[in-house]
This record gives sequence, C-alpha cells and structure tokens, in this order.
Amino acid sequence: MPPWIAGQARNDKVSGFLKIEGLAKTFVPGKPVFDNVSFTLDQGEFVCIIGHSGCGKTTILNVLAGLDQASAGHVFMDGREVVGPGLERGVVFQSHALMPWLTVRKNIAFAVESRWPEWTRDAVKTHVEKFVAMVGLSGAIDKKPAQLSGGMKQRVGIARAFAIQPKMLLLDEPFGALDALTRGTIQDELMSIVRETHQTVFMITHDVDEAILLADRILLMSNGRETPSGYAPGGIAETVTNTLPRSRNRAGLHHLPGYYELRNHIVDFLVSRAKAGEDH
Ligand SMILES: Nc1ncnc2c1ncn2[C@@H]1O[C@H](COP(=O)(O)OP(=O)(O)O)[C@@H](O)[C@H]1O
Ligand SMILES: [Mg+2]
Repeated sequence: MPPWIAGQARNDKVSGFLKIEGLAKTFVPGKPVFDNVSFTLDQGEFVCIIGHSGCGKTTILNVLAGLDQASAGHVFMDGREVVGPGLERGVVFQSHALMPWLTVRKNIAFAVESRWPEWTRDAVKTHVEKFVAMVGLSGAIDKKPAQLSGGMKQRVGIARAFAIQPKMLLLDEPFGALDALTRGTIQDELMSIVRETHQTVFMITHDVDEAILLADRILLMSNGRETPSGYAPGGIAETVTNTLPRSRNRAGLHHLPGYYELRNHIVDFLVSRAKAGEDH
C-alpha cells in the first residue's frame, strides 16, 4: 500500500449512504429543467452521470454539494439531510478553482486547516505533502497556479479534495478541459486512488469511455424538451450497471467482453433517446 494511503479514512460498504429523493429544479416557471430525480449511492461506490449539455447535471451536483437548493426533493447523506456546503463533501469543479495568489502547498493547506483547525503546523505540512505526492506534484509544491499546466492544476484540485478526506467526492467534468493524453493519465491516477481508499464518488462526465472505465453504475440523463403533449422535464432515464471487471484499466478496456455492447448502449442513448420525446 503506498504510504499516502495509510492515513486515509477507509469506508466500509453502507448501502443507501447517499439518498436523493424526488429532486426537481425550476428556473423558468412551468418548465422544470428536471423533476423526479431519485437515486442512491452506496458507500465506496463510484457513480457517473452522463447526459447532454444543459440537462441539469451540474445543478444536481451543486445541490448534492449544498451549493444550490432544489425546487423540490431531498438529499440525505449518512442519514442527515444536506442543507448547505460541508467539509464532509469534497468538490472538484470543471475548472480548477484554485486561489491564484497562493502556492500549491498553501491552496491545499488552506482546505486542510479549515477541516482540522486544531492541527499543528507540522501536522498540516505532512498531510499536505502526502497528498501532493499522491498526484505526482511534489516538485511543483511551491509554485503558483499560473506556473502550472492545465493538467497540473486539475491534479491540485483533486489533491485538495482528497486531502480533506471527504465522505463523498463530487466531480464535475474534472478532466473536460484536458488534452487526451493528460486526461488518460489522471483518469488512471484517480482510479487507483479511489480503488485503494474505497472513496465514494459522484462524477459528471460526457465522455462515454471515461464513465465505463471509472463507474460502477452510470446514470443516463435526458434533457427537458417540448413534446406534442406539452413540455417534458429532463430526468434520469435509465441506470446502467457496469458489469466489466472492477480491475479493468484504460489500455485493456476495449478488449473486454461486453465492452462494445455497453458502449453502444450508452452512445445510442445519447444520440437518439436523450433529447427525444421519450418518457423517463
Ligand atoms: N442560475 C441559473 N439561472 C437560470 N438558469 C440556469 C441557472 N443555472 C443553470 N440554468 C439552466 O439550467 C439548465 C441546466 O444547467 P446545468 O445544470 O448547468 O446543465 P449541465 O451541467 O447538464 O450542462 C440549463 O438550461 C441552464 O441554462
Ligand atoms: Mg455542467
């Protein structure tokens, strides 16, 4: 086990750890973006949500993070209702959201000090260095975000989210802005960290292969749309269970039996069902 794993909270499987019940969000009266969104996540589970732009993925994630309020419905984590942001949930946004005037070390230390205000300077330092090493950035620890590439900045965001040892990690297209090569490397890193720590993760992506590589289950989300019988809100159209072996990796993914069926099913959904007038 790599040394940086040693202090990580290990989660035992608890079913229904996160419960989302009847979530809806309306910005324009009479035209909810989505309604009736219900699903659960077990502890240690990795769930991806996939859907076209504008269907409401970020809105759902923001509600789970406690950064936005739903128009209807409830979110429970570990038996308690989520009503605002909290350090038991770590969020990685589409763009890195680092504080540009602080070094990598200080960006992460800031989060760690907020999480554990009673810790000594030395304890914070050791902890920060451990998580920076985890994402392979020890050599850049005293640099500022402007001195880093896009991939490095996203790595810092991931290290920061893991460093607060959240019960739940919320990722909003964290690799969307990266080139394919960097993206692949960080996907591999994320996967090995998540497997080692049994981290519970909810992740938004619009990359089908990313979802198949990382997720235990994939939620397919449809867009709200006008139909002959009136406006139909978006929602979770289907939940796909990933039956590929959990030991899968990026390089071998397309050789696995069942991979193409799974991939085609999701692509078909995105191409023909996600925006069509189908009920969910
Ligand atoms: N603050 C807001 N005010 C009005 N409309 C919003 C707001 N935030 C999001 N929307 C709308 O809600 C829909 C869903 O947005 P979002 O959750 O960002 O979608 P996704 O992440 O799936 O692309 C979009 O049509 C977007 O324009
Ligand atoms: Mg979004």
